[in-house]
Amino acid sequence: MTVQITNPSLQDQTVGVIATSLPGAAAIFRKFKIDFCCHGDVTLDRAAKDLGLDADFVEQALSELKTDDLPGLTKLSSGDLTEYIQSRFHDIHRREIPELILLARKVEAVHRENPKVPAGTAVLLKELERELEGHMKKEDLILFPAMRWSDTTLDAPISQMRKDHADLGVYLQRLADLTDNFTLPEGACRSWQALYIGLSKLNEDLREEIHLENNVLFPRFETV
Ligand SMILES: [Fe+2]
Ligand SMILES: [Fe+2]
Repeated sequence: MTVQITNPSLQDQTVGVIATSLPGAAAIFRKFKIDFCCHGDVTLDRAAKDLGLDADFVEQALSELKTDDLPGLTKLSSGDLTEYIQSRFHDIHRREIPELILLARKVEAVHRENPKVPAGTAVLLKELERELEGHMKKEDLILFPAMRWSDTTLDAPISQMRKDHADLGVYLQRLADLTDNFTLPEGACRSWQALYIGLSKLNEDLREEIHLENNVLFPRFETV
């Protein structure tokens, strides 16, 4: 079924709300490089203008979305959603990032003479890993349990988490810049291919996780 968006104020809604309420909108935003996770509180009109895009054009793309792939995550209880985030994202980051660091070290060493080598990726990933681990621990040990035990507002800790997310978004942007948006050079070896596939997945996963937290989970516990 095609969604006909007749609401004339869609461009006045925030991209975070649109990504949450309109199935498939997240993919459209990724295509246009609209940051709906770390900067989800920006209106569609503003986000389009900031990127030099025609907001009507983006709205048209959103209006052609289909509703068949509703993920259902927004309907989960907070307890189930936090458990989903931990198993689908936190556990997987902890497993995959160390492997990516090893792979990046290898590619950087073997291809150090290649002008396209993403020099500095391993160091950047190590910094990202440290920041992300500190952030996930706060969610795993303090914030998420608090969300399971009560429905009181948690404005102060959530505000800190949102700041952490913005910082993590900067790391992801630096990774994309280093790798020419995860674009492989001609004749890249298998390790290089595996590295960019893994980095691209990390980028997608972390942005999806931040989107779920910022735009679906956190608003349930905020007063503003
Ligand atoms: Fe998280
Ligand atoms: Fe988070």
